[in-house]
Amino acid sequence: MRNMLITEKSGEINFDNAATTPPFKNVIKAVKEFAPFYSSVHRGSGKNSRISSGMYEASRSEIMDFFGASSERDVLIYLKNTTEAINKLSNQLACSAGKKNIIIATSMEHHSNDLPWRKNFSVLYAGITPSGRLDMNDLETKLKKNAGRVRLVAVAAASNVTGYVNPIHQIAELSHKYGAEIFADCAQYAAHLPFDMKKRDAADHIDYIAFSAHKMYAPFGIGALIGPRKSFEGAPDYSGGGTVKFVTANELIWDEPPNNQEAGTPNLLGAIALLAAIKSLKCLDMQKIAEHEAELTDYAFKNLKSVVGIKLFSDFLKPRIGVITFNLKNIYHKDLADALSAKAGIAVRSGCFCAQPYVQRLLGLSVEEINRYKTSVSLRRPGMVRISFGFYNRKKELDILTDFLQNY
Ligand code: ALA
Repeated sequence: MRNMLITEKSGEINFDNAATTPPFKNVIKAVKEFAPFYSSVHRGSGKNSRISSGMYEASRSEIMDFFGASSERDVLIYLKNTTEAINKLSNQLACSAGKKNIIIATSMEHHSNDLPWRKNFSVLYAGITPSGRLDMNDLETKLKKNAGRVRLVAVAAASNVTGYVNPIHQIAELSHKYGAEIFADCAQYAAHLPFDMKKRDAADHIDYIAFSAHKMYAPFGIGALIGPRKSFEGAPDYSGGGTVKFVTANELIWDEPPNNQEAGTPNLLGAIALLAAIKSLKCLDMQKIAEHEAELTDYAFKNLKSVVGIKLFSDFLKPRIGVITFNLKNIYHKDLADALSAKAGIAVRSGCFCAQPYVQRLLGLSVEEINRYKTSVSLRRPGMVRISFGFYNRKKELDILTDFLQNY
């Protein structure tokens, strides 16, 4: 399977797929093959421009289909990445929030599924259990207590820190029961497990999702937001070229979604790359990818548990994706990550993974400790080392990691 990647012969063991995955060869091939026809989208009458516009628009339905979205109900808006998508969703929902001015996020979110909500809404955080999983009772209590005032429950489909997969359909059903919608942050989930937004009449359907192509083997700076078309009608948060039907000096008529939401010349090569990646993922079969990565994850836990002085920050129980965080003895996380790269050729990420509140909880930091780190420039901030798998990683790569950690 490794031969599907352009980095096949790079020599590095890449356990940093939660940050960025390497590109599929097919993605690079698709971009190269399309390059001679690359031209302006929605703005030209030349042959290449018509081909480019056609490709760009056609890509949306296949990508929506991959996530079980409905072409009638939903719209796919191309953006730079998940972060930009959540900012847009926050800005758009804020316009029509009315009395529903509360967002319930969770204590296990990436900053991208937390900070954009703080800007426009009051944010409540559903708590976590001692093992770091979402506390469903607390979520329901908060939904019940604030029924009629919660616009949306914003939750990671899978955590970038512990790899835990949240029961998003169960959360959807609860959210709908109390009059809220649900947004699932699929950045960590999309390339690892099959996903289904489900039909709108199912009580557990998912209203909105966002994801990033650079975590799906397609690195051309694109991501997308999918949600009900009607939520994106009217004035967009960013306006400019391509967003209007008609303008005079003092009047304008906005275009329909998704056009009104995609100001400026769009990222056509990004869309082509993402579509090619989705075709490759479908060809590999998401169920088989999930099974392979689950087997790797079980193997990793079995091996890592035997390393003397290791502290693991999550349990191995399913459902989860292949993201595992740990510290070793009293070695500073960044020093260990650097040593893994320099001495064993293994790429990992270390720190707080843009999820500081969650990591602070998992590390068990006290309020005093957090305050000390907040104000000090000289203290080395606590964190963890993270390994994260893709479909192409192998057990023998994990053996190299375990050997290194055993002997360090
Ligand atoms: N959110 C990405 C990560 O967890 C960048 O590494």
